[in-house]
Amino acid sequence: MATRSRFDDVAKLVDTERGFISREIFVDPDLYKEELDKVFTRAWLFIGHESLIPNPGDFYTTRMGEESVILCRDKKGVVHAFLNSCRHRGMKVCRYEQGNTSIFTCPYHSWTYTTDGKLQGVPQYRSLYDANLDRDANSLVSVAKLAIYKGTVWATWDKDAPEFLTYLGDAKIHLDQALDCRDGREGGSEVIGVHKWVFPSNWKFAAENFLGDTYHNPSHRSVDLIGIGPSAASGKKGRRDDELEKAQHVWISFPEGHGVHSAIQPENNEYIESFLDNPVLEQYFRHCFEERKRRLGEQARLMPFVGTIFPNTSYHGRQPRGLCAWHPHSPTTTEGWRFFMVDADAPKEVKDYLRRYYMRYSGPAGMTEQDDMENWLYATSASVGTVARRYPFNYQQSLGAWTRDHATLGGTVSLQVTEEIARGYYRRWKTYMGGGDWDELLGGNDRLTQRAAE
Ligand code: FES
Ligand code: FE
Repeated sequence: MATRSRFDDVAKLVDTERGFISREIFVDPDLYKEELDKVFTRAWLFIGHESLIPNPGDFYTTRMGEESVILCRDKKGVVHAFLNSCRHRGMKVCRYEQGNTSIFTCPYHSWTYTTDGKLQGVPQYRSLYDANLDRDANSLVSVAKLAIYKGTVWATWDKDAPEFLTYLGDAKIHLDQALDCRDGREGGSEVIGVHKWVFPSNWKFAAENFLGDTYHNPSHRSVDLIGIGPSAASGKKGRRDDELEKAQHVWISFPEGHGVHSAIQPENNEYIESFLDNPVLEQYFRHCFEERKRRLGEQARLMPFVGTIFPNTSYHGRQPRGLCAWHPHSPTTTEGWRFFMVDADAPKEVKDYLRRYYMRYSGPAGMTEQDDMENWLYATSASVGTVARRYPFNYQQSLGAWTRDHATLGGTVSLQVTEEIARGYYRRWKTYMGGGDWDELLGGNDRLTQRAAE
């Protein structure tokens, strides 16, 4: 049963019909605690990538909500995720960010756990426990469900949660574009680095930004005026590759709460030469473009831009390519993790080039990401005051100008930037906060409404 909020009705704080959302949901400590309880223990959360743990015994310490979680490949090669907290007195059994081990030994009283999370060793087991401790009941707490999708690893604490692909819904078509190889082969990506940094903002500012808030483009005016993009060495300005410039952009909302901004290339789209000063890069990117077109045909016209998978996983689909997890620390503090991705079999020179470009663009020192973070952190600090909190944020953009279900693109599609995607995201947030069942969390009612409107 859902516990009651100190606010009479959380639903009143989020008025997606009229387009107002209270600032309280971005700053209030009680609502934040409720989010951890009602959103982060139920939704599927992105926790890492297989390429970070390629060998038996490899582990990567990750997070789900505020809690530390060990992502580990056991000695048989099976991937697990456990709460990083000893069953005896709660000590972190693993204090490293990543590594390889045959056993996790708790530093406090030395209980040991195998790489599949089972309690193995208990000091003085015979003399102090009568050799009679229930090892299964005292093993590390495992996530309820874990899914590996094209190398990415996702988990949920809710045993009743639907399978990951059901949860992902039609947003899969768009996330796929970020996870597949640049030449159209399925999967095949690896993580070449993870940036982690803490910033003073509510986590939803970041998640919402990636739903397709293209409206904030003026924030990036400075990086648009200089050349930090893939074509910069050829003397071209801008922060991205040229492919997106000539495309039809689409903004899509999904009933599960996800939202994306993708782009559709014109028919008979041709490769744009971008790396004339570097034949290795030019050959690689030309090959990827042409091979992708050959493999996917008409579908190759769909290009990913950005998206957020509810609640806190965002992606950059093309250049720079990667996944972000926005981990909550407090109502007004977030830890951003950016997983930078490349094709695992790309030439070393291409990976090095992309690594430098990704750092120029994204992460704590990335020029584009710094623009975004300034907005999120000042918007947070300017919303904590007693007076500021009386005035809700405005989400009325394109209210009522929604379009329709789209068979090829999934979801409901708009051909212009729209806050309907954010409204859909918070509508779903409200369902979680109200303790909705899984049919409601997947947007059951919204699906019916959309169909009725057609
Ligand atoms: Fe881990 Fe005591 S807290 S062994
Ligand atoms: Fe931005």
